[in-house]
Amino acid sequence: MTQAQADLATRQPSELTRDEWQELRDRYGTALGAGRALGCSGSTVVRYWNRHGIAYEHSNVRASDRVRIPTNASGPEYAPLLKLLPKRKAVRSIIDVSNALNCPPREVERLAEAARADGYDVEFGEKSVALRREVGQERPHFVHDFYGEHFRVAIVSDTHFGEIYEAEAEWDQFVELCHKEGIKDLYHAGDITAGLGVYRNQIRDLRPDCIGVDQQAQRAADKIIASNLSWHFILGNHDLRQYEANGFDVGQRICDLVKAAGYRKKVECLGHDRARIGVGKNEACLLDLNHPGGGTAYAISYRSQKIIEEYTPGDKPHIVAIGHFHKMDDLPHTRNMTAIQAGCFCWTTRFMGRKQIAPHVGGLILEGWTGTINGKPSLARIRTEWVKFYQPRRGAAD
Ligand SMILES: [Fe+2]
Ligand SMILES: [Fe+2]
Repeated sequence: MTQAQADLATRQPSELTRDEWQELRDRYGTALGAGRALGCSGSTVVRYWNRHGIAYEHSNVRASDRVRIPTNASGPEYAPLLKLLPKRKAVRSIIDVSNALNCPPREVERLAEAARADGYDVEFGEKSVALRREVGQERPHFVHDFYGEHFRVAIVSDTHFGEIYEAEAEWDQFVELCHKEGIKDLYHAGDITAGLGVYRNQIRDLRPDCIGVDQQAQRAADKIIASNLSWHFILGNHDLRQYEANGFDVGQRICDLVKAAGYRKKVECLGHDRARIGVGKNEACLLDLNHPGGGTAYAISYRSQKIIEEYTPGDKPHIVAIGHFHKMDDLPHTRNMTAIQAGCFCWTTRFMGRKQIAPHVGGLILEGWTGTINGKPSLARIRTEWVKFYQPRRGAAD
């Protein structure tokens, strides 16, 4: 407490001048906050503000919305702020939040920043605080023109970092091969982490050191750093489960952790579920990353065909790399597009076992040459090379 604040607390409200009341309004923002500083109730403050004609913001916070901040809380200090922004009321006015937390707006801003730094998608605006949870519906567009007229990249999907079924040794072999082949960039089609609460009893499928999504983000960051490759990834349904539940943005968190570790290569989260990348000189090759929903079809290529069908003429990419199904598939030329299901790097989970889904573990090395075709920059040649791994036999009959 400053000397000026201590002085105020010793005086009666009736002794304060208009300027002092105004200063209290500027400093605390809310009647409740000013009342606490003065040692009187919020309604007394409101009475004096009205008497002096001092404008203030009305709050419609209810008593039941007040958050009791436990003194020995083990959670992060911003937990009460997140609690105040539930799904049904994810946006609230700053004045309401200040009142509910019994703190001035600048303290709310500090808590919002702390939550943001830990990966929560909290937005502190001019008048409101919001916790974002909606999965992005738009397909963002990125320009990767640094390849020139020839690109050679790795395409992978569904690494599910943090799961006990992670194909750890195979992943390391794949990364080693990328280095041997001189590959510098890796595109990931989603489900980078195992996530939490995706299906019933999922917690049993998680590594003991990756029970929390924050720990999973750390594991993904460690894998990225160890790979020494540039990463361009989208988030899949596993990554987004906790985003929808409580606003935890695992993509942002992974990028922050990797940058904080001083990683020199590029690591970027390209968005939710899908993204478009203009690859090469003049964006000659359009590459889509797509993490659809739903289950695997009886015929592996069926979902790829349906995804190809969904594109309207004029909006088609040259290549669409599809994650989620944990399958490898290559449709080289349907509607002038190449559709790839990029495989995965995790073995059969109990969930997949129940549904009799066999994973195709491995990734893809994609090589393309671009040029000008009929006066338009386009993809001229493409070469796909699958890197495959087979499940070790466990007492299977020959
Ligand atoms: Fe997956
Ligand atoms: Fe998925």
